[in-house]
Amino acid sequence: MLENSSFSVKPELFSEASQLIDVLQIQQITTYSKEKNKCVFTVNKGKITVEFPRPDIVRLTVNHTNENFTHHNSSIETYESSEFTIRETEEHVLMQTTDVEFYLHKQNCNFTIKSAKGEIYSNGFYLTEEGTISLIGAQENEFIYGLGEKSGWLNKKGERLSMWNTDVFAPHTPDISELYESIPTYLSFTPNYSFGCFLNNTGRTIFDFKNRKDEHKLETETGIIDLFIYTGPSMKDVLEQHTFITGRPYLPPKWALGYHQSRHSYQNEEELKYIADSFEKLEIPVDAIFLDILYMDGYRVFTFDKERFPNYETYLPQLLEKGIHIVPIVDPGVKVAGQYDVFIDGVVKDAFTKMPDKSLYIGDVWPGKSALPDFSQQKVKDWWGELHEFYTKLGIKGIWNDMNEPAIFNESKTMDLDAVHDNNGNPISHKEYHNLYGYEMSKATSIGIKKLTNERPFVLTRAGYAGIQKYAAVWTGDNRSFWEHLAMTIPMCLNLGLSGVTFSGPDVGGFMNDTEAELLTRWIQMGTFLPYFRNHCSIGMDRQEPWVFEEEYTDINRDYIQMRYEWMPYLYQQFIEAEKSGLPVMRPLVLEYPSDHRTFDLNDEYLVGENLLVAPIVTRSARSRAVYLPEGIWYDYWTNQVFEGGKDSLIEAPLNKIPLFLKAGSIIPLTNKKKKANQKDDELYLHLYSQESGHVNTVIYEDDGITMNYQSGERFELHVNVDFNHETVNVKLESRGDFKPNWNKITVFLHGTNKEIRIESHLEFEALSGKELM
Ligand code: GLC
Repeated sequence: MLENSSFSVKPELFSEASQLIDVLQIQQITTYSKEKNKCVFTVNKGKITVEFPRPDIVRLTVNHTNENFTHHNSSIETYESSEFTIRETEEHVLMQTTDVEFYLHKQNCNFTIKSAKGEIYSNGFYLTEEGTISLIGAQENEFIYGLGEKSGWLNKKGERLSMWNTDVFAPHTPDISELYESIPTYLSFTPNYSFGCFLNNTGRTIFDFKNRKDEHKLETETGIIDLFIYTGPSMKDVLEQHTFITGRPYLPPKWALGYHQSRHSYQNEEELKYIADSFEKLEIPVDAIFLDILYMDGYRVFTFDKERFPNYETYLPQLLEKGIHIVPIVDPGVKVAGQYDVFIDGVVKDAFTKMPDKSLYIGDVWPGKSALPDFSQQKVKDWWGELHEFYTKLGIKGIWNDMNEPAIFNESKTMDLDAVHDNNGNPISHKEYHNLYGYEMSKATSIGIKKLTNERPFVLTRAGYAGIQKYAAVWTGDNRSFWEHLAMTIPMCLNLGLSGVTFSGPDVGGFMNDTEAELLTRWIQMGTFLPYFRNHCSIGMDRQEPWVFEEEYTDINRDYIQMRYEWMPYLYQQFIEAEKSGLPVMRPLVLEYPSDHRTFDLNDEYLVGENLLVAPIVTRSARSRAVYLPEGIWYDYWTNQVFEGGKDSLIEAPLNKIPLFLKAGSIIPLTNKKKKANQKDDELYLHLYSQESGHVNTVIYEDDGITMNYQSGERFELHVNVDFNHETVNVKLESRGDFKPNWNKITVFLHGTNKEIRIESHLEFEALSGKELM
């Protein structure tokens, strides 16, 4: 109790610890040898290995003990290492690819990385005998981004952040760094160059940017140092490099990009029906309704409670026919019960995590005593994936993975650290494996559903690790209905995106505490322009479906949810680009404007793709706000008013308006309002935001929105080329690809000029000019 009072700062509790503790550095290379495209150095304490997964990426492993540690390659894409040359100078061993030079000091193992052009990425890293790695000579005036799901601001310079997947029910305040997801990667940015480091270690790791200004100190609690160094040189390059190593974000089905409704819990069939019918009656689009833990029979995963949902076998497929996807929650804890086939099957298949004495690890979760699948084994992932046939038979194609840190109701909040994961015959303790648990569960789920349905799966996960973008969307856990948490959504999701995880979003409206009408509306406005858009709230809290407050609010909420669907072609285009390039859908301004210092720590605005700037209202009762627009000409989406960038402008934001801006030269594809994301569009609207002169182009995509067929060419690409000339705006429309879209008409609207528009169309359907929009 006393810890929560001023007693906590009683001087006697503190010792004067020196900040400048000498560290013992790893010393002296004794031997080295090059095997294939890898160089292995023997040093006084263990082994150092250097390889280049690509000429612009360095992978450095340091095994301090000479014991045979296994690499955690589970989240790493396979690659063929690049060739490099090796040369010895008096002081160094120099390894060189076409892009980088890596100097390892023979006496003290410090290393320096330079680009082929001679730029120095770091003045030196040093390795200590305690298993830490430090980068000294950090870039002056650098900004630190990434580090996955963290509270606080965008820039993490000056912070010490720890990675350990944790179920945090307490309010997510800036001092809590261990949340549900651990993405141990960061990006060091200056306007001159950026580089990134990914510490591939699935135990607890610590990133210290606070101890010394010129140092990044990376600590591992277990296992080896396995560090990928991305040499940039731009922020976009670093993201491309990180998603080359950990995988590009997967392309979700379109319905996953629509509006999703959830509550802990829609308690029975009547309530579910009432919710589905209300969306219909009130003409609010919805693509998915979630079933939280009460749908199960005594919290047994892969079951339905037949009293609460007596007709689930007929009713759920009916909902799907109406275009409403049901997404049930599936937690990892399997109830220990003799009459329960999943438990029995798991025991027979030896699928559960065990203690060192080979007894089952048993933890207390929703169902009471539960066994936890050992997802480190391929056979367990396969088994778990196949179990989902229970859901797919009902037409279910989306699964919500929760409690997969894994969360256990005990003091440590997780599994016994001594529990053993078989790891396909290379056993490791839970302490070493912990941060990968949720990732592996969602991987098993995603692959399982894909096999069973032949469609793009949708998995929503709470816990994850680097690379989770290949399998699942991430929601940011149990936030609260606080304005501060609405504001925090922006830097949190931006940093997830800068860690490779683009498909993310919060519980819109807030999970705990009662929301209020204005907060919900402002959150829905922001959600409309977030990569993932789900309203979710806790049992015991006031309801927060979009219609629960006065009509005025319902009308605004409906307008925005509909807007999400009008913007679907643009949003989908961003997800396709993300799959190609690894760049996030939701972007901090610094990603597009890296020479504008005002963007470096901008926490209350973001871009969707390159061209849409969103400046949400995150303050109660605010009816206007300052918006910083970077260089260039910007158009107010609502009024077409033109703004000169490079400064702040005061923008009116009555309750029904979220400030939105489009960059001059943008080509924005929109469509009609609709009820479901995958409903076919008859018409496409191209909005051109005029610029003085010059050429712009874009590619807009359409495919079936569901299957993987786009990978074999079944995709329509609309290539749009626009020339802004002195008196005319010339638009050329061409198509590529095998897929036939449903569009029978494209209308091109020109904003901000009354120049004549000339359309040269090579399409099989009509292309018209709409009226100018000034
Ligand atoms: C956890 C989840 C929350 C869910 C609840 C019940 O708190 O974070 O989203 O509603 O468990 O399943």
